[in-house]
Amino acid sequence: MAVVGQSRDGIAGGAVDPRQHELTAGPQGENAVRITAGGSGMADVHAAADVDRATGLSAADSAFYADTFDTTPSVAAMTDLGRALFLDTTLSASGKMACATCHSPGRAFGPPNDLAVQRGGGNLRHPGVRAVPSLMYTQNVPPFTEHYVDDEGDDSIDQGPAGGRTWDGRAQSAHDQARLPLFSPFEMGNADVETVVAKVRGASYAALFRDTFGARVFDDTARAFKGVLMALETYQQSPAEFYPYSSKYDAWLRGQAALAPDEERGRAAFNDRAKGNCARCHPSAVREGAFPQFTDFGYAAIGVPRNAAIPANAERRYFDLGLCGPWRTDLRDRLEYCGMFRTPSLRNVATRRVFFHNGVVHRLEDAVRFYVERDVRPQKWYPQAHGGTVRVFDDLPEKYWANLDRQAPFDRQAGDAALSERDISDIVAFLRMLTDGYQVGKATPPH
Ligand code: HEC
Ligand code: HEC
Repeated sequence: MAVVGQSRDGIAGGAVDPRQHELTAGPQGENAVRITAGGSGMADVHAAADVDRATGLSAADSAFYADTFDTTPSVAAMTDLGRALFLDTTLSASGKMACATCHSPGRAFGPPNDLAVQRGGGNLRHPGVRAVPSLMYTQNVPPFTEHYVDDEGDDSIDQGPAGGRTWDGRAQSAHDQARLPLFSPFEMGNADVETVVAKVRGASYAALFRDTFGARVFDDTARAFKGVLMALETYQQSPAEFYPYSSKYDAWLRGQAALAPDEERGRAAFNDRAKGNCARCHPSAVREGAFPQFTDFGYAAIGVPRNAAIPANAERRYFDLGLCGPWRTDLRDRLEYCGMFRTPSLRNVATRRVFFHNGVVHRLEDAVRFYVERDVRPQKWYPQAHGGTVRVFDDLPEKYWANLDRQAPFDRQAGDAALSERDISDIVAFLRMLTDGYQVGKATPPH
């Protein structure tokens, strides 16, 4: 495995080269959580990252952030509280599962192991339905919209659905998102808000919670719970831990590191429209001073194979169709969205041992190889029916196949692979450069 971006100690130390801040300023610099005290002790806390530049905050967001605490919470205190909450296993029905159990701080806040889905709930036996995504570099994910217009490009182009949290974008913000695992029967499995607040009130950090949100914060369960969500969200907005831009690729963008030959070839193949064309959905270039996120926040159906390791898939009629359901319910009738999942960032992707929304792939080189072989060598990826025909796209009913992406690199036929085996290993070398924690001036760690 490549050297993990951050150890817990690295996080606590916050060893960020101050020059990096200067160099990454620009759009990312604005993403820090801003706090403005308004009126009589009212805290108007909002993450600029969630602001849609065209529309501003949603009404629901404004209401969320406008809640009054007796004390104006500081970002630093909320970050510390959020970290304590994130690591607290007592916040689950089982008493054994924290956010960090699934979102491992040592693995870019992605899964700690190679399981496609993690088990949770009151007895820790309830299997999840999707792979755990990394929580890093989600600070710029826009709120979900069906009509994404990239304001820096040609603004007449409607790029379709984009944004939102989770693989299907059903949560609008990090605080909406935090509600899901706290109460999901697959995850932390708490019965209700009162249960969660009672646990926080009894936690070692309860005094810090009172200092941060006001001495009487626990008197009002709803308000205390809002404090929990705000602290978790603020923590996930902390640059040092969630978007340090400290990979070798970032160092190279700053002119502080040179690429090895395979990394340079991989970079070229990744970007080349006639080869990987990966940057079509995972942009890799600096734009208006902002370092790349390696996702355009858009949705695509790429047709990954069904994963028998997910217990829900034992039911033959069950299909996880992403945007059109079943876990997301508001777009059930939009059949043109079936099979689409949000394009993940590829930053720190080399720290993962499960890839794609259903965790069907376990090696990074195989994830890259899927793009090359899906249409060229489908028998390697999909099961064979009796008589030898390959049951292609076996995790998407045939009536939705029109939704599948068919542009490069998915525009090839047998004998015409978009990437050679060497291209694949070069792209992997390039992707390994995206792991945070690179030490400028030191040799690349062996991977
Ligand atoms: C049992 C494992 C598990 C636990 C515990 C868990 N999560 Fe998650 N988390 C997931 C999975 C799986 C997803 C993807 C869900 C989906 O796409 O439907 C996810 C998605 C997310 C996302 C969306 C990321 C994105 O890319 O949009 C955020 C934010 C998040 N979790 C935060 C948290 C927080 C905060 C906690 C603790 C309160 C937590 N999670 C606890 C498994 C877990
Ligand atoms: C059409 C847009 C598109 C293109 C082009 C594209 N990707 Fe992706 N990528 C996605 C989407 C969408 C997913 C998630 C799909 C899913 O889970 O069903 C994904 C997932 C991944 C993952 C798994 C990440 C994780 O956290 O599980 C890797 C690795 C990856 N892509 C690498 C590449 C490489 C390398 C290329 C070029 C060869 C490429 N992608 C081209 C859209 C794209």
